[in-house]
Formats: sequence, structure tokens, C-alpha cells
Amino acid sequence: MGTSERLRSVAHDDRDRQFNHIVGNSLALESVLAEVQRVAPTDSTVLVLGETGTGKELIAHAIHNLSPRCGHPFVKLNCAAIPFDLLKSELFGYEKGAFTGAVTQKVGRFEMADTGTLFLDEIGDLPLALQPKLLRVLQEQEFERLGGGGTHHINVRLVAATHRDVDDMVARNEFRSDLYYRLNVFPVLVPPLRERREDIRQLVSHFVEVFARRMGKHIPKISQTTMNAFIAYDWPGNVRELQNLMERAVIRSDNGVLPNPLPAPQGNTKPSVAPPSTLRDHEAALILETIRVAGGMIGGPQGAAARLGLKRTTLVSKMKRLGIYRPRYQRLIGESNKGSEVPI
Ligand SMILES: Nc1ncnc2c1ncn2[C@@H]1O[C@H](COP(=O)(O)OP(=O)(O)OP(=O)(O)O)[C@@H](O)[C@H]1O
Ligand SMILES: [Mg+2]
Repeated sequence: MGTSERLRSVAHDDRDRQFNHIVGNSLALESVLAEVQRVAPTDSTVLVLGETGTGKELIAHAIHNLSPRCGHPFVKLNCAAIPFDLLKSELFGYEKGAFTGAVTQKVGRFEMADTGTLFLDEIGDLPLALQPKLLRVLQEQEFERLGGGGTHHINVRLVAATHRDVDDMVARNEFRSDLYYRLNVFPVLVPPLRERREDIRQLVSHFVEVFARRMGKHIPKISQTTMNAFIAYDWPGNVRELQNLMERAVIRSDNGVLPNPLPAPQGNTKPSVAPPSTLRDHEAALILETIRVAGGMIGGPQGAAARLGLKRTTLVSKMKRLGIYRPRYQRLIGESNKGSEVPI
């Protein structure tokens, strides 16, 4: 398998392949993947940051798979999912007899990950009391199991992830700054989906295909209105939300056309398509939509610039500033002007 294939294909077994493939070709995602390729071969600690559902775990897998440690263990621990008392023994293990109930020796995740990668998910939720111990392991690559038994040397590459603003937590003394600096050697920021709307179309096709295959359905079409709604929607739950909504839509589809799974507007409450959250997003969405309506033309009397009441050069420089490039919007426009239903 080539490097770029290995970068995208982070599956460990075929059953999960469909769900472990990094989909999307926005400039924003491509630059994240370029960072991943750059850092993966090193042993440096990576801190993956981004909102919930953006794909941080997929990125962590990709880092491992592209590293020389691929083929060695990839061990995950979710710091938010385990109660404080257990977290310590999960991380470091214990000796037989370390405490009442410790009837056998337990190997911790650090030890399990020896020669491989340890993925500490939700690192922002690591209790303050455990932080010095983690710092010590990172600094010295050695640790002790609870209950003594001497020091164990390990060779582990750490990848950590969080959706929390650790900078802010440090400022509020909720996270130790010394540990933060140790973790933040190479930050990788996965942007929210609303900042890479060009990925939406591909993600929709990908998940519809996966769920349709699973449910034995054939759904080759989607209405242009539905696709436009997907592109305009803000996706606060990012790719996970999109994945779940596509599953719902595939369940509901019975005529080969994907229905719109976004909640319908009720009375005069909030619209189903949430307004983009920032002026920048709003501007980008409006420009992309206008270019689509203009059939991809920027200049000329029917072009997007004229429709927006702007000079062509002004629109072009705005697009540059917003990161909207020709190959991207062409893909976004796709077959949009050819009728009300388009292939997925
Ligand atoms: N680019 C992508 N291509 C395909 N699937 C993706 C992509 N990004 C995310 N996913 C899928 O979306 C879901 C959420 O991704 P993941 O668990 O990696 O998010 P996360 O950033 O770790 O979220 P959280 O902070 O909530 O843990 C997963 O099922 C994942 O496979
Ligand atoms: Mg996660």
C-alpha cells in the first residue's frame, strides 16, 4: 500500500474498513493530512485538537499507521470514560497484592503499548492529581506499577486528543502547564465541518453508500434542494452528526432518492437549516451558493460577481481570503444545474 493510501485507510480489519476511511478533499483537510504525514514518522508526541465528531480518532490511527510503529500495538484509553480510581491502574497497572482485591498483577496501558502508540483520548479530562505521574512517564519513559515492583522502562509514542480548550484550562489552573507543554509538541487541529463545506458532498456519498449497502438498498439519487441544505447546514456535531443523519435518511428512503433527514421547521421557531455561526462562514456559504447558481462562472453579466453586486476582482480576492479555490467549488457545483435530482 502506498503512503497516501495508508494515510487515508486507517482500518484495522475489513469489517470496520468503511468506517475508518478518511473521506474529503477540502484544502483544510488536505493540509491536516499533510501535517499528519509530516509528523507520523517521528516519535514526537502529537496533540490532536478539534470539536467533537471532527475525526480526531481517525487522525490518531492514521499517525500510528504511517509511523514505523505500525504493526506494533495501538492502545487507546479514554480519560473521560474511566472513574478516577480506576484510571491510575488502567494507565500504570498494579502488582499482585498492591491493594485489597489486587489478586493478580495487572498490566497497564502504557506497558501494553510498549514499542507502539498510546492514544490518550479526552486528555483534557485527565484529573489534575494524575497529571504529574503522566508527565514523569513522558519525560523519563519509565513508570512504576502501583504497589512497587521497581521501575519499568518503556518505549511508547504518545498521541493525545481533546475537544476542550486546553490553553484556557491552563489559564484557569485546571490543567498543568508543564504537562501541556510536553503534550503540545506538535498540535494537529482538525477543523469543524462548517469550515470545510467542500467535504460535505463526498461524506454524504460515502455514508449513504455504506448504509445503503448494509441495509440492502439502492439509493442513487438525492434532490438538489436536499444537497444544498446539507451544504448550508452548520453541522455542530460535525462528521459524526452527518454520519448519523445519513443512517436515518437511508432507513427512511424507499424510492431510490435520499430524503432530507434535517429536522423540519416547526411553526415560527428556528429554521431547520441553522444560520452559519460566523459572518465568515455566512459569507463563504453565500459565495459558494451564488457560484453554484451561476453555473461556476465568476465574471460576466450572469456570473457570480455580478449576481452579488461585486467587481470580479473583489470577489476573487474575497474567495482567496476565505479559502475558496476553483477546483473546490467546481466539485461542489458538480451536476447541480441539471435538474432537481442528482446522483449522490
Ligand atoms: N473525514 C472523515 N471521513 C470519514 N469518516 C469520518 C471522517 N471524520 C470523522 N469520521 C467519522 O465520524 C465519526 C466521529 O469521528 P471521531 O470519533 O474520529 O471524532 P472525534 O473527533 O474523536 O470526536 P469526539 O471528540 O466526540 O471523540 C467516526 O465514526 C468517524 O469514523
Ligand atoms: Mg474521539
